[in-house]
Amino acid sequence: MFSNRPHGGKLINRVVDGPARDELLARAEKLPRVQLNARQLSDVELIGIGSFSPLDGFMGKRDYDSVVNDERLANRLPWTIPITLAVEEAQAKNLFGAQEVALADGNNQIMAVMQLEEVFRYDRDLEAQKVLLTTSDTHPGVQYLKSVGDYCLAGPIQVLRRKDRGEFGKYTLDPKETRYLFEHRGFKTVVAFQTRNPVHRAHEYILRCALETVDGLLLHPLMGETREEDVPAEVRLQCYLVLVNGYYPSNRTVLSLYPAAMRYAGPREAIFHAIARKNYGATHFIVGRDHAGVGNFYGPFDAQKKFFQFDAEELGITPICFDATFFCTKCGQMGSAKTCKHGAEDRLTLSGTKVREMLRNGDKLPTEFTRPEIAEVLREAYRKQNQ
Ligand code: ADX
Repeated sequence: MFSNRPHGGKLINRVVDGPARDELLARAEKLPRVQLNARQLSDVELIGIGSFSPLDGFMGKRDYDSVVNDERLANRLPWTIPITLAVEEAQAKNLFGAQEVALADGNNQIMAVMQLEEVFRYDRDLEAQKVLLTTSDTHPGVQYLKSVGDYCLAGPIQVLRRKDRGEFGKYTLDPKETRYLFEHRGFKTVVAFQTRNPVHRAHEYILRCALETVDGLLLHPLMGETREEDVPAEVRLQCYLVLVNGYYPSNRTVLSLYPAAMRYAGPREAIFHAIARKNYGATHFIVGRDHAGVGNFYGPFDAQKKFFQFDAEELGITPICFDATFFCTKCGQMGSAKTCKHGAEDRLTLSGTKVREMLRNGDKLPTEFTRPEIAEVLREAYRKQNQ
């Protein structure tokens, strides 16, 4: 009933290895080189390993315009976030006539080669308004758009090197690996969970509720670039490990780190998150309150509504939607307005800003908000940071 086919039907693999890689690396040394920022580098890798299937490279103008205006690729497949490689005008002009470009990391190490099919100018205000629903400078996605140039380089890529993730490497599975694991375990249905925060009781509750209805859980925290205020990835990993090692059955749960950058695009990013998780083999995707939101830019359930603007079949992954959940002191457990009759005075909810403020002040997070072991990991991390 639930299909786990990749988006567009085929899992893309643009990672080159063996003699072909050596040959391409040697050729790449002589090509014009473009140095990528953190988001672009993670996009390169995610395209390479198929997380962004059916994309095989950075978007050309037809796909870009179609995604920005219509939330679909030019072939009409749902796709909500532009995947572009924006550079400054001078750099775009220097590449005039080039057929291939080497894509390098911050240390100028070549990571990939792009066949340069197209260079086009885009309108960043239009993109901000359509995709992020704002042009406000206080939105991190708008700040990103303002930090990059006006021209996009487009074309298919071939990935030659992967980022060295150190300790994180062993927790970072590619789509083909998660798919293998799910098949091996006999999972017919898998719910994926996106998060960019340390896991707290509300997360734990919705994960547990969702897992009650499917075969497996993919805990898939986003580990690429996030805002400075967000809790650092290494601290978050420790929190996730507390949960998966201590509380969830290991034969039902897979923890894998998702090396993408946050866009903070709320509803459109929720669809994008779900499509990527479909490529990892998930059949279901959790969408709670203010998914991928930031500040007050999006309504708390706009992301959920967005899913129903698409035909379920063409999206190919089923959202599992949750109301805002909280700890109710009268019930003595987690719930939401759907499952608990008590009033606001009995509900414990803490905003991300409040949690960060408490941690900065060295305050203990209440056990109703997060497990004591996780609270301790966070307190210790903030204590070290403040030293
Ligand atoms: S996000 O940017 O990755 O969406 P976060 O890590 O806070 O941020 O949320 C992860 C997922 O949990 C999202 O689907 C979000 O909507 C959901 N979520 C977080 N807190 C709550 C809550 N209190 N009630 C319901 N859903 C929640």
